[in-house]
Amino acid sequence: MNYFNTMITGWILVFGAFILLGNDICAQTAMANIQSRKLTSLNGEWRALIDPSNTGEYLQVWVGKKPVKKTDFYEYSFEEASVLNVPGDFNSQMSELTYFEGTVWYKKQFNYLIAEGKRLFLHFGAVNYLADVYLNGEKIGSHEGGFIPFQFEITDKIKDGDNTVIVKVNNNRKGNGLPGYGYDWFNYGGITRDVDLIETDNTFIEDYFIQLKKGSLTTVLGWVKMNGAGEKQDIEIEVPELNLRYKAITDDEGFAHVEFESEFELWSPENPRLYSVTVKSDTDFLVDTIGFRSIEVQGNQILLNRKPIFLKAVNIHEENPHRMNRAYSSEDAKLLLNSAKELGCNLVRLAHYPHSENMVKEAERLGIMVWDELPVYQHIQFSDSLMPAKLEQMLQEMVGRDKNRCGVVVWALSNETYPSTPNRNDRLIELTQKCRSLDSARLITHVVNTQSYENHTVNVWDSLYIHSDIVALNEYFGWYLPWQGKPSDTKWNISFPDKPVFISEFGGEAVYGNSDGPPDEAAYWTEEYQEKIYVDQIEMFNSVPNLVGVCPWLLFDYRSLGRMHSVYQKGYNRKGLISEKGGKKKAWYVMKEYFEGK
Ligand code: GCU
Repeated sequence: MNYFNTMITGWILVFGAFILLGNDICAQTAMANIQSRKLTSLNGEWRALIDPSNTGEYLQVWVGKKPVKKTDFYEYSFEEASVLNVPGDFNSQMSELTYFEGTVWYKKQFNYLIAEGKRLFLHFGAVNYLADVYLNGEKIGSHEGGFIPFQFEITDKIKDGDNTVIVKVNNNRKGNGLPGYGYDWFNYGGITRDVDLIETDNTFIEDYFIQLKKGSLTTVLGWVKMNGAGEKQDIEIEVPELNLRYKAITDDEGFAHVEFESEFELWSPENPRLYSVTVKSDTDFLVDTIGFRSIEVQGNQILLNRKPIFLKAVNIHEENPHRMNRAYSSEDAKLLLNSAKELGCNLVRLAHYPHSENMVKEAERLGIMVWDELPVYQHIQFSDSLMPAKLEQMLQEMVGRDKNRCGVVVWALSNETYPSTPNRNDRLIELTQKCRSLDSARLITHVVNTQSYENHTVNVWDSLYIHSDIVALNEYFGWYLPWQGKPSDTKWNISFPDKPVFISEFGGEAVYGNSDGPPDEAAYWTEEYQEKIYVDQIEMFNSVPNLVGVCPWLLFDYRSLGRMHSVYQKGYNRKGLISEKGGKKKAWYVMKEYFEGK
């Protein structure tokens, strides 16, 4: 099967995307580029019922019963209920929800008149973690996964006039979830990103892929996928600035192959060139801004547009450091990304889950490459019977949403999973192959920390690296692991001499402004101790073979409830180079100088 057919097969599996899970209908994979469609926002104030005992199921709160007889009464009502803003996590909006992990019922009423021959979809940017969605008292489906858009078609369920949508949101940790029970970030629950109604024509452009073919600087290879019955459609892709117009006709499945040549001003951090691209069919018309660049591994180097590049990266969690809540807006994205730029970065690792589309688009505009990552984090129940479907769903949702974002250069499919977990290798090798079938135009990797450190020698081997384009490893020498000798004398024994090596995490903790304690003792969280870690790490980097990039953990101090030192942490992971209040620690300056020298 050639590249195109393989990829088509991959995507055909996506877009019939009702996966029946029990008697539940799972959400559809979201259509592409909603910002270019006819949107009605449902953002704003929603009514909310907090339901720690999950009684709402038994009461069937979605029916919205009202007393009729004098003896009627119902032990729930959304009228006069609390108000939660959407988008936004619920933990940061009400003090009684600060540490809440459980069920919150959201309700929104809206008025809609759907035009003849049109279709209507209810689209969620993200809901963490489980969403059960009801429209006018009827369940329309469910979605699992906290970090990616999903949608439901409601054409035949919408009423002319008043409608009520109720969403049961549950952010309890799930043993067979992605992530599982244990993770080192705050479990923000809620409708954390935008909610929109999307009106389309009966037949509309559901999705498209328009990027440079792997290894080429002039050939665009992709496709357009229509949704809806009806005859073949003429497709037209235009890039006005290049005076380019490409025409095709869809096949019986509504697919049109796209392949054309052109000279492009290539996207790069120095010149983040984006083109306005229109995708037209007989019945639909979308506008996107698309960049064209090539990313590939050649030997032990990473090439951007055929030139070796060193990845000056930093890790970022999706948290607004000043508000200390889930980030979601363009403003939040600009705050985080401008801070990464100030540090001298050309790449951000969006740990450990897909961040908002605003983040990915803003990074592209600013010329910052993006490392997009699945929440396949540490303790995952790879043997669970539902795990293969969940892994595939989240992969397709992540790639589906960001595949046209040239700024995204790496798909990272796991972080620090354990070789001892049953089925870990099978599941993750399968996932890697699926990812390649969906998009071979980017680098694919797993982040691993199974290396051993004995006699001042780092021995790197993991079967996941066989299937990865990069040897990405997390190491905390100088913090979790004391040095066994002079950092510059560190020996590296990497079993993949022909692969590029990327240090995806390193660092240590410090409280901003704290110098109270011996500078060589970790237990005081001094800035000096953290600074020394960075000086030593940079000394060691010179001994790492095939080093193509480094990525300190992490940009800002952030909330993580397992960090319980009552003096220094107070529920924060203090490995930030910057405090949550914006204070640059001494280590920030060490890292800044290193990147300047690169
Ligand atoms: C791990 C993990 C991070 C975690 C960090 C730490 O490597 O990938 O998610 O926060 O180490 O311990 O701070």
